[in-house]
Amino acid sequence: MIKRIPVAWLRPGMYVHDLNCGWLQHDFVRNRFLVKDEDDVRKVRGIGVREIDIDTARGLDPDELPAAAEPESCPAGPALDVSPETANASPAVRTTSKTTGSLEHARALHREANQIVRDMLVDIRLGRQIEMEQVEPLVARIVDSIFTQQDALLPLARLKQHDSYTFQHSVSVCALMTAFARTLEVPREVIHEIAVGALLHDVGKARVPDEILNKPGKLTDAEFDRMKSHVVQSKIILQATPGISQIALDVAAQHHERFDGSGYPNKLEGEQISLYGRMAAIVDVYDAITSDRVYHKGMAPTEALRKLLEWSKFHFKPELVQAFIRAVGIYPTGSLVRLESRRLAVVQSQNADQLMQPTVKVIFHTRGHYLTPETIDQRRSQDRIIGHEDFDTWKIDPARWLPE
Ligand SMILES: [Fe+2]
Repeated sequence: MIKRIPVAWLRPGMYVHDLNCGWLQHDFVRNRFLVKDEDDVRKVRGIGVREIDIDTARGLDPDELPAAAEPESCPAGPALDVSPETANASPAVRTTSKTTGSLEHARALHREANQIVRDMLVDIRLGRQIEMEQVEPLVARIVDSIFTQQDALLPLARLKQHDSYTFQHSVSVCALMTAFARTLEVPREVIHEIAVGALLHDVGKARVPDEILNKPGKLTDAEFDRMKSHVVQSKIILQATPGISQIALDVAAQHHERFDGSGYPNKLEGEQISLYGRMAAIVDVYDAITSDRVYHKGMAPTEALRKLLEWSKFHFKPELVQAFIRAVGIYPTGSLVRLESRRLAVVQSQNADQLMQPTVKVIFHTRGHYLTPETIDQRRSQDRIIGHEDFDTWKIDPARWLPE
């Protein structure tokens, strides 16, 4: 008999009939299989679906399990068919409690994380191994920070110095992947592995010469090939690192693969790319195009999300891009928006049930002068957001207006 159960009820010995997640195109998706052990349970939960179908004729029946194995309650899952246009009608899936001193705490963590990754890249260059004893606690703190103060860490991670891009990008991708996985309701232990992979996804760049990494102009074909080799190098370095998980390896090894098979190094396509690899591709591109580089200015985050949706026809799975938008918000925290009153405001925090209506701080009038800052919850305001703006256009320093 086929029974639909919350994924939290899954136990070894049950027989999976359908994972109900066609959109995810996960490795498991097309398979019916017996759940052999806790590892299988973790993998299925890691996919991020709410409910699955099991065949009780071929495996355990939850109704016949002893009371001690009663399932725990299943958390509410995200509405996965949400598009940006309808996002403000979606249920709340993510809450972030802000604590006093969030910004100071996030700043300290961000500084330390950048330092550790910078040192690690130098060590790799010198032929040393990655020390997971150092990586694990750092990742645990970043994951913790996203769970408790996402609105403080993410905008901070987006601001980067030109000459420090590689390691700052690694920290940023780690924070963004954590937020993304959290929205997909991936179990915490899987999120940790995803975050490890995200922090280390570009370690292979330690084996690419600086002149190529930081070249301001267009790369020659040979230089571009050398640049692209960083993915294979990341994989080689991580495979030689004791204690690294397959999830973390997938994140690093597949972050330049594309859904239509146009990526590298293996031109994987569709479901050949793991869920974690596909998430990493979206986050890697988002962080790259929203960051200022030597040769180009970063795009406004809302514009970048629009681009990702446009490219998702080919490069990414659209549903996954929409889930990412739910993770960061349509107007991501730290971005600049224009209100109907012609005032400009910096987004302070997301209201997860109303993605079009975050809480903002009004700071500037488009007539060209600063205003006394005023915090407005858009859910209770008549002065609507009518679009995103660029800090540079108005010569406003985003670092001065980081959400507190
Ligand atoms: Fe990369």
